[in-house]
Amino acid sequence: MKSIRIMLAAICGLVMFSSCAKNEGTLPIVPYPQHVEMGSGHFNALGAEVETEGLTDMEEKVVEAFGDLLEAASADADGCGKIIFRRDASLDKEAFRIRIGRCRINVYSSTHSGTVFAIATLKQLMPAGIYSGTPDEAADWSIPCVEINDSPRFGHRGVLLDCSRHFFEIDEVKKILDVMAMYKLNRFHWHLTDDHGWRVEIKKYPLLTEVGGWRNGTMIGWDAKSNDGIRYGGFYTQEQLRDVVAYAAERGIEIVPEIDLPAHLVSALTAYPHLGCTGGPYQLMTVWDIAKDVLCVGKESSFEFLEDVFTEICDIFPYEYIHIGGDECPKLRWENCPACQAKIKELGLKDSDKWTAEHYLQNYVTARVQKMLAEKGRKVIGWDEILEGDLEPGATIMSWRGVEGGIEAAKNGFDAIMTPCGYCYLDYCQSDKPEEEPISIGHYVPVEKCYAYEPLDGIPEEAQSHILGLQGNVWTEFIATPDHVQYMLLPRILALSEVMWSSPEDKDYERFKADVIAHQLPALESLGYRCCHVIEREKTE
Ligand code: ACM
Ligand code: ZN
Repeated sequence: MKSIRIMLAAICGLVMFSSCAKNEGTLPIVPYPQHVEMGSGHFNALGAEVETEGLTDMEEKVVEAFGDLLEAASADADGCGKIIFRRDASLDKEAFRIRIGRCRINVYSSTHSGTVFAIATLKQLMPAGIYSGTPDEAADWSIPCVEINDSPRFGHRGVLLDCSRHFFEIDEVKKILDVMAMYKLNRFHWHLTDDHGWRVEIKKYPLLTEVGGWRNGTMIGWDAKSNDGIRYGGFYTQEQLRDVVAYAAERGIEIVPEIDLPAHLVSALTAYPHLGCTGGPYQLMTVWDIAKDVLCVGKESSFEFLEDVFTEICDIFPYEYIHIGGDECPKLRWENCPACQAKIKELGLKDSDKWTAEHYLQNYVTARVQKMLAEKGRKVIGWDEILEGDLEPGATIMSWRGVEGGIEAAKNGFDAIMTPCGYCYLDYCQSDKPEEEPISIGHYVPVEKCYAYEPLDGIPEEAQSHILGLQGNVWTEFIATPDHVQYMLLPRILALSEVMWSSPEDKDYERFKADVIAHQLPALESLGYRCCHVIEREKTE
């Protein structure tokens, strides 16, 4: 037996790899790898053993879980293959190398993320049974001999989930994190607060969730005059949030929590009316609209509130970035508030040709929160409205109203994350037959349009390094159930994952579409995800 193993090992050593021409002999991998060299022959994954050398405990855990799935999927099949995971400190963060020989797969990474992403790639090279550990001996478990050297094009590869307009249980959030890990997405932007519900427990302000977590009904469909009369809400405890942080970290995902301010805060004002300009009383919104009531920023107590909230937020979420919103802030209340007007006077803010004094007041708020978070070692991300007026250096812009905010930000030396609504808003309808689709906010963003997006278009070459990446956003005004969230994400987030990860020269919509239909959707559905199949009847232009 031993001599046969040695002979096989010798044959493995003879596998030759050759660079494949772009998009020739492609692999069923999404997002498509950066470098692929095809070899000859195949590795039989059925019954293969999984081993590690020199990995961290957390990596051991994820590799072991992969090994368990492979063992379960292999049932009693006897294989002679080995899959060995090793460190290679010379690789970039998030990069990995997979060398597939006829009887051995060597996997190299320098970080936990690299290991997680390598596993995601290996799984995509196997039958769908690998995802659930379901034995499927009839399937083809042979993997082509190939060398894959892979690393992401962009560092920020995000998904936003709005848990304010509709609330999703922790297990459902985890399912989204699982799907993110399958497609090497690494930032979960968690929209935790808005006019329609405050979802994060803040121990110093219990009413934020006791009162601000619950609204008196929800408008029905598109009828803003209606109300279903059903008290609606929920929130996450800090213990639950810490558990999600750990769950995400295991999958190579950082969480970017968003506390939207100074607008989109009616849930907090309802709980603590002194935070508003008029003093209330306020009511959480039950219709999908922009509230006129915003944080009163003329009062020091509002900043004390923000300091306390961010102290607890930073304690739960350990990562560099905190999202502070900044979008859609009507200035009406500030125009009529003695405290806000006194603050404008004190700061000497004046209207300019382009912006009002109240716009500059918002700059003052952004700068104060930026400083507050910098003292806690954090950086801020804000929606592109924070560029209006004068923005202090150091903020990152999330460009949502189009690409212009991101272009302007990068040209002016700010980092930017692209999420233009016309390409990246995954609450928009994905079919040209909206009457056949679940209710949505409207518009039309088919999967092909997501795929076609090029985030560096319009960015001068010298400013391109300011584009940190992009993300797909699932706002949930019209999305009330977890399976509807999945339906809106899948498969459009796969298209965006290629924009985020792959080389633009490797993008090929026909290859992507064929792979999504033949492999990705079946794999996702085998895991119980609800997917949209419009891609199958889309005509490619
Ligand atoms: C947004 O969609 N209001 C950022
Ligand atoms: Zn005020």
